[in-house]
Amino acid sequence: MLRSMRLWAALFISVAALTACGSETIEVTRVVTQEKTVEVDATREVEVEVEVTRLVEVEVSNDIEVTRVVEQPVDTVRSIDLQFGVHQALGMAGQDVFVKKGDELFRQTPDEIDGLLSETVYRSGFEIEADEFAVSDNPFGPFSAEGAKPLAMTFADWQTATGSGTYKVQGDMGTVDFSFENLVPNAVYTLWCARGKLPPDPVIVNLPCGELDGSQNVFESDGDGNLHIAMSLPARRNSSETHLSVFAIAYHSDDQSWGPVPGPFGSVTHTQLLAPLPGPDDEAWQVSTQPHVAGDPARGRDIFETGGGILSTQCIHCHTLDGTLSTAKYGGPSLMDISTVAADRVPELSTVEYLRQSILDPSAYVVEDFGDSMEKSYQYLFSEEDINSLVAFLLTQ
Ligand code: HEC
Repeated sequence: MLRSMRLWAALFISVAALTACGSETIEVTRVVTQEKTVEVDATREVEVEVEVTRLVEVEVSNDIEVTRVVEQPVDTVRSIDLQFGVHQALGMAGQDVFVKKGDELFRQTPDEIDGLLSETVYRSGFEIEADEFAVSDNPFGPFSAEGAKPLAMTFADWQTATGSGTYKVQGDMGTVDFSFENLVPNAVYTLWCARGKLPPDPVIVNLPCGELDGSQNVFESDGDGNLHIAMSLPARRNSSETHLSVFAIAYHSDDQSWGPVPGPFGSVTHTQLLAPLPGPDDEAWQVSTQPHVAGDPARGRDIFETGGGILSTQCIHCHTLDGTLSTAKYGGPSLMDISTVAADRVPELSTVEYLRQSILDPSAYVVEDFGDSMEKSYQYLFSEEDINSLVAFLLTQ
């Protein structure tokens, strides 16, 4: 039996770029996606041909090789709880702050930390390359302390930083919601979507989370060292046996971000916390199905709360979102948890269909204990886009 289904094909491209000296292989990756309708037969095998329309990476002159095609239905949401840790906790070198002994700087080794906790940490006078996997000749020092400056904190202060949160993927888009504590107070931080090829020949590509120019990854911790980051970003590649994807947060002791690049490690840019993404089959992933509409939830919220330039009586006038009953004369039920409630209202309607109907044709189903008093003119007022945006917003409640 042939059946049509809609799917998102995510193309993972890996590009082998030859450098000037002609030997090094750099893996440059970015997800490019396209929506396709394909026929699926009983074997459930499909061949998907997708044009690559958007190659975000730079200066590639030679072969582009498609290495993997992953199909993910749009309604599938994968989310994972992540815990951030310092390099030591992850068994990594590459801490970008140092301890000073005489006129030399040292990185702490993963097991040496205890004796150093009360030491002041230093920034170096020049860039010292990150070496997470300790593969260089000199991962832990000594490095020259020329130009080094103390950062007004001890290793203990630096090490108490923590962070956790959720990373969610739907289709080709992801969102993060991370909270950090005990960071350097009132300081500039950047969030990195880093991906590396694991040893023996590690290569690390640091991309700013969000826009590639780094305009969306600059943040400032508050006076207590707390920082909350919630943002959207292109879905990330998972880690694999050969590659590691991490979120990393870097402190900038020069009080500025460096746009598309992290900036000189050790001297002004100090990666403080890392959270590796596990592989695609890791059991920590939670998979759920969430109705999806092509609307903009932020625009929907605007219409709901302010009228969005269209409504004289806002939705919020008659519907609270916190479970309390509206005090308006013809007020309706609270729309707290409406994304769940809407799923079960009318058996033959999906969540999205019910929400559309409630707005466009309120008399078709009248919620028990309420009168048929909701405005009936929305079907004439709203564009298709506005309706989608309102529904997308209600799905977040
Ligand atoms: C004048 C008051 C009023 C305004 C304004 C209003 N509603 Fe309603 N709404 C109601 C009432 C009363 C009900 C319950 C009766 C019914 O089901 O039609 C309701 C029901 C709903 C429901 C179904 C809730 C459920 O639990 O099943 C949704 C969804 C909804 N409204 C969305 C909206 C949106 C979105 C707007 C703004 C575009 C809006 N309403 C504006 C009064 C209002």
